[in-house]
Amino acid sequence: MNTIDLSRGTDEAVFAAMEPREPGDFANHATPLIRNCWYACACASEIGRIPLARKLLGIEVVLFRTEAGAPVAMRNRCPHRSFPLARGKLVGDRLVCGYHGMEFGPDGICAHMPALTQAPSTATVQTFPVLDRGPLTWIWMGAPDLADEALIPDTSWLSDPAWGTVTGSFHIKSDYVAMHENLIDQTHFPFLHPGTVGTPEYARSKLSVSTENNQVVIRRELKDAPPPGVYGKPANIMHKRVDRASEARFVSPALHTAFASVRDPAPDPGQPSLYRYNITHVFTPETNNSIHYWWFNSRDYRPGDPDIDRFMFEAHSQAYREDVEALEWINEVVRSDGEAQFDLSFAPDKPGLMARRIMYRLSAREAR
Ligand code: FES
Ligand SMILES: [Fe+2]
Repeated sequence: MNTIDLSRGTDEAVFAAMEPREPGDFANHATPLIRNCWYACACASEIGRIPLARKLLGIEVVLFRTEAGAPVAMRNRCPHRSFPLARGKLVGDRLVCGYHGMEFGPDGICAHMPALTQAPSTATVQTFPVLDRGPLTWIWMGAPDLADEALIPDTSWLSDPAWGTVTGSFHIKSDYVAMHENLIDQTHFPFLHPGTVGTPEYARSKLSVSTENNQVVIRRELKDAPPPGVYGKPANIMHKRVDRASEARFVSPALHTAFASVRDPAPDPGQPSLYRYNITHVFTPETNNSIHYWWFNSRDYRPGDPDIDRFMFEAHSQAYREDVEALEWINEVVRSDGEAQFDLSFAPDKPGLMARRIMYRLSAREAR
């Protein structure tokens, strides 16, 4: 494990920890997309008996369910004349092309072509492994022999009734590398999110960053400080001083999680002393320059309380909209300015750089 205390906030903290590097060894918008990874392709509830078209990792995909409810993912392109199969229809478990009526089973094999007496043996559509996990459906678009279900990251709290969860989604015109860097960068909180997650005390608190098996983890603690509104208001502890802890994690190219807790050292009678929040950011590159993004905010108290749900949804929608806007503005500058992308990095940028380095290496490994 590689752990660096960034509390000094000095450039030496970074450069002491990072070996000399070659240009380009941090992923950016131009890095080839990583394919050997489980990505969310949709909310499970979006996929049904009406074919759903969605571009994922630059590939047009059609998603649907069999009559038994199993999700199916295949290329949204008929091998005959490239008609988008999502514009066809389901008959039983077969997807029927809307142009000349070829019928494809969930395995992608053509089972029938009306103009021929026998189905052509050469006509198949590429399919992708796809699985439901709680509220999400995950797809593997990399090497088929590497599609191990055990690699789907844990998001079990999203379907645990003890946790109250609110959720939203965005389509973002930016690259997913910048999105990861945004999520793992906590120094922007007081400036981009002054009304929600950013407090000056937290911005100055000690943090440590480490890498663990191609993941980047930031841990942070703050004792005896006012809670931020986004956590203090729903728990009704804004008048208290609390202890806070958080763990933000680059889990995979598809997932970022943050686990936060607020401890009230002197809870009122009948009130909890610990409030936990799990924040789940799930995103999938649509292309190198656009992202499907789902966020979930879960808490371990008063699940289903409509007032807390409303507050959490509105506060987090606002914060994430601020991130989305910032990423789209940055993307416009990088794309329209004549000069190639450059980044002047400082010690507090280290967590993002560590994640970008992991992504660069994962991408480079696939290119070999
Ligand atoms: S394009 Fe699909 S059957 Fe012809
Ligand atoms: Fe943010």
